Amino acid sequence: MNKIRVAVLCSGGGTNLQAILDSAAAGRIPSGEIALVVSDNASAYALERAAKANVPTFIADRKAIPDRLARERAILGVLKEHGIGLVVLAGFMTILSEAFTKAYEMRIINVHPSLIPSFCGPGFYGLKVHEAALARGVKVTGATVHYVNEVCDGGPIIAQRAVYVEEGDTPETLQKRVMHEAEWIILPQAVQSVCKTLLKSEV
Ligand code: GAR
Repeated sequence: MNKIRVAVLCSGGGTNLQAILDSAAAGRIPSGEIALVVSDNASAYALERAAKANVPTFIADRKAIPDRLARERAILGVLKEHGIGLVVLAGFMTILSEAFTKAYEMRIINVHPSLIPSFCGPGFYGLKVHEAALARGVKVTGATVHYVNEVCDGGPIIAQRAVYVEEGDTPETLQKRVMHEAEWIILPQAVQSVCKTLLKSEV
């Protein structure tokens, strides 16, 4: 096999998914193929981004399937069907169970909008992370890509990139800068580097 089949799991806008799709289209993810996009939100814009890029989608909607473990079982089934070797959490807003993380041990990565171990763990997601950073008064924040294990935001760190907080920042302006200057850069790079490592281990 010369490419790892990658599934990207999203819940909302999917700008990180877009960064991965753009990188792949530009030839910067030669060791991976974006083979599937999964959403736990039927109205996520990420699904439209996937459709535009001709990537198959699967929806395990939170409202349609309220039980988290039942949603996970559905997702695990479709990952198997598509021969997925790497799962990328890109704004996926459900914490995964240990059964799920064990099923893809060292094959799930996540992007988090802070420099872990700051502002992470249960309850820290999306804008809330930037609200907390501003409330604490940090002058530098950033983004982290890490492996996902049973500890929320606790797996080994793959990449981090720092971003300065600016005078007058709101959670929204800070979120935007962290995405532009950190997340959209380090996530596609991490997808390529992890796929490359996985390919080597399969030889
Ligand atoms: C991103 O900032 C991502 O880092 C964050 O949600 C946003 C999703 O945006 N993820 C978390 O907070 C996970 N703990 P996107 O849908 O436009 O990629």
